[in-house]
Parts: sequence; structure tokens; C-alpha cells
Amino acid sequence: MSLDITTSSPDETLALGRKFAALLTVGDIVLLSGRLGSGKTLFVAGVGEGLGIPDRITSPSFVISRIYRDGFLPMVHADVYRLGSIAEFEDLELTDDSGDGVLFIEWGETVAESIGDDRLDIHIDIEGTDRRFRFEPSGAWYDRDLAVLG
Ligand SMILES: Nc1ncnc2c1ncn2[C@@H]1O[C@H](COP(=O)(O)OP(=O)(O)OP(=O)(O)O)[C@@H](O)[C@H]1O
Ligand SMILES: [Mg+2]
Repeated sequence: MSLDITTSSPDETLALGRKFAALLTVGDIVLLSGRLGSGKTLFVAGVGEGLGIPDRITSPSFVISRIYRDGFLPMVHADVYRLGSIAEFEDLELTDDSGDGVLFIEWGETVAESIGDDRLDIHIDIEGTDRRFRFEPSGAWYDRDLAVLG
């Protein structure tokens, strides 16, 4: 049971992220996958706007992760592209840091095995300037009303 939504511009992707933010609750983990430049960071920037985070959200790829505490919920935004192993990921203890908020992981499919079943996978496909977002719920995410995004 997955949901597909296509955006046709960076602004539409930001707007989708803002809308998605309204579905979030404490403890949520979202894994983003898709090629370089597919819009993972931009989507999370939209989520940040939706959560009322005042900072501009940029790629965490060099620092691996950033935490934003000034929104309605704390948000950890990570990019695990540069990590070499699952063990390195687990050493970061990101799921502990984000326990009282939400966690977004770019290139998340590479660490999915250490996340467990309660998660949302978002896969982004590039089609020209369109981006097709596929939302794939697992565990408790099945009960979340993703249809409001459409
Ligand atoms: N419909 C669209 N939605 C999102 N981004 C788009 C869209 N059309 C074009 N773009 C462009 O695609 C790029 C998306 O960049 P972004 O940094 O969000 O990707 P990313 O998936 O995080 O990349 P990386 O793998 O390097 O982290 C931006 O340059 C943006 O302007
Ligand atoms: Mg990125």
C-alpha cells in the first residue's frame, strides 16, 4: 500500500514537505531515497517550514546530521551517504538523539536494516523536472492518513 505524488517544481516539493509535516508525531522515522539531486533535502526543508523551524535547512551531507530544536517538534536531519558501514551509523546514535522528535535520513535505504519496521520510506524518482514521491508505510505508519497529501 503506497501513495505516489508528483511535483513539477522545487516550490511544489517544498509545499509537499510542509503538508507532510502535519502528519508527524514524536518518534517518527522517515527514510528518503533517490538519486543525487532528486529532492531529498528540499523535501526536508519543506518539512522544516511546516514544523515552524526558523533556520534554513541545507544538506547535512558533510556534517552527517543536524538537529533543529526550534520547531513544534525537534527534528534530526541526517545524510548517511558518506558513511562507510551500518556500524558507523549505529555509533552516531541518531535514533536516541531524535527520540523526543522526528528523524529524517537521506540515503536511508542503506541503513534501513538497523531502523526496524516502524518507519516511512519515501522514494523519489526523477522525470525531467518532475519528481515522483512514493510513500511506503511500514508498521505504525499504516494507520497514518497519507491520503491527505494528495
Ligand atoms: N520538482 C522538483 N522537486 C525538487 N527539486 C527539483 C524539482 N525540479 C528540479 N529540482 C532541483 O533538483 C535539486 C534537488 O536538490 P536536493 O539537494 O533537494 O536533492 P537531494 O536528493 O537532497 O540530493 P543529494 O543526493 O545530493 O543529497 C535542486 O537543484 C532543485 O532545484
Ligand atoms: Mg540532499
